[in-house]
Amino acid sequence: MINSKIEQLLAKMTLEEKVAQMLQVSFSPDKKEDALEWVKKGAGSFLSAWGDNAVELQKAALETRLGIPLILGIDAIHGHGCNDHSTIFPSQLTMACSWDTDMAEKVGRATAKEVAADNVHWTFSPVLCLGRDLRWGRVGETFGEDAYLAGELGAAIIKGYQGKNLSDDDAILACAKHYIAYGEAIGGRDAYDTSITWRKLRDVFLPPFKKAIDAGVGSFMTSYGSIDGTPFTTSKKALIEILRDELKYDGFVVTDWNTVNYLLWRQHLCANHGDASRLTAEAGNDMIMTSLEFYNAAIEEVKAGRLDEAVIDTAVRNILNMKDRLGLFEKPIRHLGRGLIGCEEHHKLSLESAKGSIVLLTNNNNTLPLREVKSLAVIGPNADSVRAQYGDWTYFSQPVLIADRPGIRPYVTLKEGLEEACQKRGIKFGYARGCSVTDKDRDNEGQIITKPDETEEFNEAVKLAKSSDVIIYAFGDRKDQAGENHDRANLELSGRQLELFKALKATGKTVIAVFISTKPLCVKKISDNVDAFVCDFSGGQFAGTALAGMIFGEFAPKGRLPIGFPITTGQLPVYYASFPGWHGDRHCDVPAEPLFAFGEGLGYTTFEYSDINVEVKNNETVKATVKVKNTGDSEGIETVQVYFRDLVSSIITPVKRLIGFKQITLSKGEEKTVEFEFGKDSFSLVNVNEETVTEPGEFTLFIGHSSKNNDLVSANFTLK
Ligand code: NOJ
Repeated sequence: MINSKIEQLLAKMTLEEKVAQMLQVSFSPDKKEDALEWVKKGAGSFLSAWGDNAVELQKAALETRLGIPLILGIDAIHGHGCNDHSTIFPSQLTMACSWDTDMAEKVGRATAKEVAADNVHWTFSPVLCLGRDLRWGRVGETFGEDAYLAGELGAAIIKGYQGKNLSDDDAILACAKHYIAYGEAIGGRDAYDTSITWRKLRDVFLPPFKKAIDAGVGSFMTSYGSIDGTPFTTSKKALIEILRDELKYDGFVVTDWNTVNYLLWRQHLCANHGDASRLTAEAGNDMIMTSLEFYNAAIEEVKAGRLDEAVIDTAVRNILNMKDRLGLFEKPIRHLGRGLIGCEEHHKLSLESAKGSIVLLTNNNNTLPLREVKSLAVIGPNADSVRAQYGDWTYFSQPVLIADRPGIRPYVTLKEGLEEACQKRGIKFGYARGCSVTDKDRDNEGQIITKPDETEEFNEAVKLAKSSDVIIYAFGDRKDQAGENHDRANLELSGRQLELFKALKATGKTVIAVFISTKPLCVKKISDNVDAFVCDFSGGQFAGTALAGMIFGEFAPKGRLPIGFPITTGQLPVYYASFPGWHGDRHCDVPAEPLFAFGEGLGYTTFEYSDINVEVKNNETVKATVKVKNTGDSEGIETVQVYFRDLVSSIITPVKRLIGFKQITLSKGEEKTVEFEFGKDSFSLVNVNEETVTEPGEFTLFIGHSSKNNDLVSANFTLK
């Protein structure tokens, strides 16, 4: 639809103003003068400016010749994490453990309010890449390994960010990123080529982005990756053919950080900025993040007749239309009140989401919840580490990577949560770190240095363990082992973590392991030898309170894994939606199954599935029912998961694919019939011609507790 107001504005803009409008400049408070210079040139956007700085930049923009308001963006990835007063929610991967779309929407809403209160209009979230290669540093930023689950949670959080109406004071623009297949980088190497095909891209990686468009997402970010040697930044097929022409996406597209420069510096696709800028613009990127060389280069390209000005016009039109939809022309400065940032209501929500995200993976002899305990020792490098608990993209990690920022209270680490819980119950409490996560540390300049000898600390922890009934051992990874540019070749536990565990285990006491880590690691040597194993990834601000409550039985865990755990690094990939393999098992030195599979997770009760029934109506709809019974001793929440398999198809299809889930609460002994209805297209595949089709034939529908065969009941049906 043509917006005449925007067309009139566009007609008034000079070429220089238009190209500047396409720029997104990175803001740094110590370079404010530079930022204001860019505002004068007409820059359309800044990233990482918030609060007073955001208002100052916006006011300066309103004073320019055309007074076009800025759109200010930020990485508010799990909460408005750059502002150290903000509420920090569980990381995306942790949130995905809840399989709770309502919660994801609420988290999006609360984050939007905190971001908008700081006069920022746009978050670079959600990440819709799939975490299928666990070596990749950014797995913790994803919703896990599965396209269906990622799409559902992504759509929910987008609705939360964007609210009822984009122009509402507390609505912010969401960004579907990184388009596309970024996580599929070969070797798990951040920002690298993928080995996928366009067919596979459409089949596996596109669906979450489609759901984002259906949810009304207003911006897309291109990915650092490439496909068969073509960077996604310059892929007309991805950005124009698929995104615009086929999916009818009507928002705008921003590149990722510095990608125009990478075309020269790293990818050697272009010999100069003119070529790089032209290719980027022509491929359908509307806004250019931080490659400021684009400004002179693109102007020059147009003047020299190598770049059609209409390409620039399209990009600027897309940006201005979105500014208009956000109501920025009418209300460039919002007055929501900073009181929303880190408010009590959002803190409560963070705690609720942390509770729902805890996954109990083993619980031998019902060790948990803890009952009669006289003394409890909390030991381990991640027990009192707010950084580990927060994960990436918070004020500890961004925008200054190494700097030690204090972080505003309240936050509650596991150690603090358990200490309080023990005090309340009159249980003797002790804490010792025991060792650090890695053998290496960083000095003030960020250089890696070897840590001093930790023998004394280690021995103290073992001594404490010997004098306690129950040991809670908290371990995992550290910020500098994950995130952008921090992929791992080896997912075994680092430092002395395993050694410490063995020493604790040797005391013969009850040991409960709590895994606090950005992503799955190789934990078998611990999980096989503990009384209970709890996974909490990066549970956010109140993870400590949540974990302590679960451990003492104030509520039952209900999380389910959105991602599998490998036995060893070489076993990767371990995602469930894989092919069967046609020549024996996968490796001869490790089982084919992962240590923990997608969908797994225990509560404090048990469930039984029976009487699956599947009916096809008019060859269009598939209706399924199943009985689920609570067979344990307490109330519980079950996530009923539905998978399917295409039994004969024109291409090789995975052994299972998730197509639905429902969460139900069952009281002790209660049985419910759960119903599902699927359209025929739920059973589609992408064929060799890149067409999405549902092929006639027989299918199996599986319903149950997790992706593991033993947890599922099944029935076959036929589509004509
Ligand atoms: C690069 C990252 O890939 C992207 O996710 C992020 O939004 C931008 N930098 C901006 O910080």
